[in-house]
Amino acid sequence: MRSKLIAGNWKMNKTIGEALDLVKALHDGVLESANVGVVVSPPYTAINKVAEFLKDSFIQVSAQDLFWEDAGAFTGAISAPIIKDAGAKYCIIGHSEKRQFFNETDDTVNKKIKAALAHGIIPIFCIGETLEQRESDQVEAVIKKQFFGGLQDIKPNDMARIVIAYEPVWAIGTGKTATPEQAEEVHAMIRDMLIKEFGLEIANGVKILYGGSVKAENTQELLSKPNIDGALVGGASLKAQDFIGIINNAKLLF
Ligand code: PGA
Repeated sequence: MRSKLIAGNWKMNKTIGEALDLVKALHDGVLESANVGVVVSPPYTAINKVAEFLKDSFIQVSAQDLFWEDAGAFTGAISAPIIKDAGAKYCIIGHSEKRQFFNETDDTVNKKIKAALAHGIIPIFCIGETLEQRESDQVEAVIKKQFFGGLQDIKPNDMARIVIAYEPVWAIGTGKTATPEQAEEVHAMIRDMLIKEFGLEIANGVKILYGGSVKAENTQELLSKPNIDGALVGGASLKAQDFIGIINNAKLLF
């Protein structure tokens, strides 16, 4: 079994003080394990303080987005070099909320993935269908379009540095989790696309996370599926005890 990765996506939550309280509690409450990696994604303003606090810890820090240019007249934007300097090792790219509220497209996702890779940041590349798309039988078409659009011109060596997150939009923040079977079906399809595009060895090393109402109670059944390599966790990553419960349940699989 591949090692698992549990990534918390804090979204637009946490002041610097609140962010530090949360990572202190995680730092005290989670023991390092070779089998389960842990990532937290504070808002931009807290990245540096959180990364400094975690500098000797196995818990790593992610940003929630970046802009593809390195620097320049792009008011309000934050680049890969800037998040890297602040201490981020990962960056969530193409989250459905960015696609829905901030005009993110497969093309902008592709540019952002390339910018992250160029600066040694690991992209957490998000894809997933809406409820309407699922109900009209478009899951495969949507996932394929987002996968190939986001990964256009990505070389196998670079693919080996990308994490994919499958997040069905209808399961995000709704309390409605995909069943382990529904999730595994899409994860297996993504693994197949990876094999065809990048070869078996690279494909087998890529982590495919599931996201959408993950909590401690459903962690084990989801993560015991062969192609589910971890979780991208929103709501349940905001409270230390909830997030620790997810991490501990992932550890029990080994
Ligand atoms: P959720 O969010 O766990 O609150 O459903 C997941 C995500 O958006 O990454």
